[in-house]
Amino acid sequence: MHSSISKKILAWYQKYQRDLPWRKYKNQKDRHYKVLLSEFMLQQTQVKTALPFFNNFYKKINSLEKLSKTSQAKVNKLWQGLGYYRRAKFLLETSKIIKKKYNYKLPSQYEDLIALPGIGDYTAKAILSIAFDKNEIGMDGNVERVVTRIFNISGKKKILKYVERLKVEKKSSFLMQGLMELGALICKPKLPLCSDCFLNKNCKYSSNKKFNLDKKVKAEKKIKKFIAIIFRKNKKILLRHEKNLGPLKEFLNVPLVPEISQEGRNYKKILKKNKNYQNLGILNISISNFKAEILCLETKKMIKVNRPYYFMNATELKSKFISSFLKKILKKIKFIK
Ligand code: ADE
Repeated sequence: MHSSISKKILAWYQKYQRDLPWRKYKNQKDRHYKVLLSEFMLQQTQVKTALPFFNNFYKKINSLEKLSKTSQAKVNKLWQGLGYYRRAKFLLETSKIIKKKYNYKLPSQYEDLIALPGIGDYTAKAILSIAFDKNEIGMDGNVERVVTRIFNISGKKKILKYVERLKVEKKSSFLMQGLMELGALICKPKLPLCSDCFLNKNCKYSSNKKFNLDKKVKAEKKIKKFIAIIFRKNKKILLRHEKNLGPLKEFLNVPLVPEISQEGRNYKKILKKNKNYQNLGILNISISNFKAEILCLETKKMIKVNRPYYFMNATELKSKFISSFLKKILKKIKFIK
């Protein structure tokens, strides 16, 4: 048991926790909704990035009831700029299942939570502890780093064993959030503030900085090449939903052709033969799981595209969801400022 460490984390968290909107709630129902929404937003996203999105989302949609009745387009619009848009789709699906299956009540069993779209092992455990004070600890990057450093251990199994020993009977919600808070504010990935840390006497990393787990380099993202076909008519631009774009496939885009596909080869042929294409340059955009290298080509002739497709001007586009991906292309080709 490492209860003395857990006790110190609890005391520190209760004194120094950041004032975050999902940590304040009107009642238990509000708490459950805020925790659900914040945990979806905080998957792959830092607190400071998610904060304005959380506040704005909550201002517009402040309960599971309201969320379950909201259209996907509106949820997407509120998610615009936050990235990893699958989360917006899963969040809405999850709210609808909670409405139907649990009469709007967020389930408090691991098996029920993990069966919901967008909820994996970490999020299920984070919800159980943060929203319900259940004796669980979800292991995200922060928690893993903190535990690895305190005990100088490695390997998933071993880390899980040590996490297990940190569990407390009461205040599980504070412990879970305290571990995350410690990872975010003090036990930072690159430059941990060991001399300011209340655990430095208990921590192996602080007393022996020989080992360093930050050498793990993130895997390079794959590069995928596309040709973006730009076709403008009467100040409007041709748009469609782009199936090749994985997480962005639900959203409007200019027609994109993967360079390596059969279709792409055909376009290359067209390009060779056709002088109507103007090269507007190459754009590199990083999205969730790959880097897109996009050659922007403008054509004066309408191309063959599958329906549905749309023509929209800059004003019409303002009321739609525009991913930062499309925004970058539209800026590059000077369609918007
Ligand atoms: N990261 C994931 N969940 C979080 C939370 N509830 N508070 C702060 N950071 C988090």
